[in-house]
Amino acid sequence: MKGKLRPVGSPVPSPRIHEHQELPWAAHYHTEFMGSGTEALSLAVAIAIRRHSQVSTPEVIIPAYGCPDLVSAICAQGAKPVLVDLLPNAPHMNDAGVREAITPSTVAVVGVGFLGIPERLEELSGICREHNLLLIEDSAQCFPPASASKSHADLVVLSFGRGKPINLMGGGALLIRSDLTGLAKEAVGHYPVAVLKVGTKWLVKRLVFNLLMMRLPYYVLERLPFLGIGETRFHRLETISRLDLPERVLQAGLRDFQLRPLIHQRYDIELAGLDARGWKCLTSDRSEISRNDLQQSVPLLRYPVLAPSTDLRDRALAVLNSAGIGASAFYERTLPQIDGVEAAVEDRDYPVASDFSSRLLTLPTHENVTSADVTLIGRILLSVTEL
Ligand SMILES: Cc1ncc(COP(=O)(O)O)c(C=O)c1O
Repeated sequence: MKGKLRPVGSPVPSPRIHEHQELPWAAHYHTEFMGSGTEALSLAVAIAIRRHSQVSTPEVIIPAYGCPDLVSAICAQGAKPVLVDLLPNAPHMNDAGVREAITPSTVAVVGVGFLGIPERLEELSGICREHNLLLIEDSAQCFPPASASKSHADLVVLSFGRGKPINLMGGGALLIRSDLTGLAKEAVGHYPVAVLKVGTKWLVKRLVFNLLMMRLPYYVLERLPFLGIGETRFHRLETISRLDLPERVLQAGLRDFQLRPLIHQRYDIELAGLDARGWKCLTSDRSEISRNDLQQSVPLLRYPVLAPSTDLRDRALAVLNSAGIGASAFYERTLPQIDGVEAAVEDRDYPVASDFSSRLLTLPTHENVTSADVTLIGRILLSVTEL
């Protein structure tokens, strides 16, 4: 065993002084840097609540399968997360389900991008317009956000945490569409500003962080149970702050992202034969959804595939991981099945999301994935299917 290939995440880039490129969303959105993606989403919810100040218990619509931080961000504003089931074999919310979930207390719908695959924002923005709701694009897992090219979302959330498209060891941003900056001003001003200093401590942390991503250190780290690496946990959001993020840190992140190889294209070729055996590569949807946005030429955060059954998914996970490949079942369950979340949401079944979570397998797509890794992964998935 020569260590283990981490499931996700790119190294923290080195900030250099002389770099400047326009942010891809600058024409339509004002950027407010925040302490994290969760804090940015919570601020978005606060803005939506202000817009509907007559509503006593505001409701926010989110998918039933997703990151528990969505729930933390909404609850931190005293609002109620309302869950909607998915469309079959896809990470997208069911439109009819969204319409049914809307009540007079709804203030916003969150369209959550999944591992680089954007939500169907055009459809969601149509529904939001009809009902006078704000559309929030949660683009923590997608970069650049889909709204950068077509400003469908009123507010857009970015995350710069580890395991995200741009890893700055933390931080996030809320992009506020120009027509909403007036409404947002008071909500934004409510939160204090923390300053990120790129001093010796930050630089050493970056070095250690990047070192721990390599195969051998990662193999050791994953075995330390108290670190809980890869586990999905619900954390309450206790504090929210804005962030004074040095421009060169973000610029380094942008540059690094643009130089990243398009590993998903290698998977598209290597795993082409799996479709005939009942597997589904979710990237095929991506090309349909984003045909006009050229999203195909942007790296995916992980490569998502749906196995024909939970049993096959679990067998593939076991074989891949014992071969040193950090394959993952990702969240593994729907939001109400995650400890701590059930108290905040309606406890009912979401059969499509449940099926999706029981068959999903994600494969690494970061810059340290080699052609040999992709070939090995392809061989393992084929052999597991033939057993
Ligand atoms: C879809 C989504 N939204 C929001 C967040 C929260 O981002 P952060 O970790 O920066 O708080 C995450 C984190 O994993 C996420 O996946």
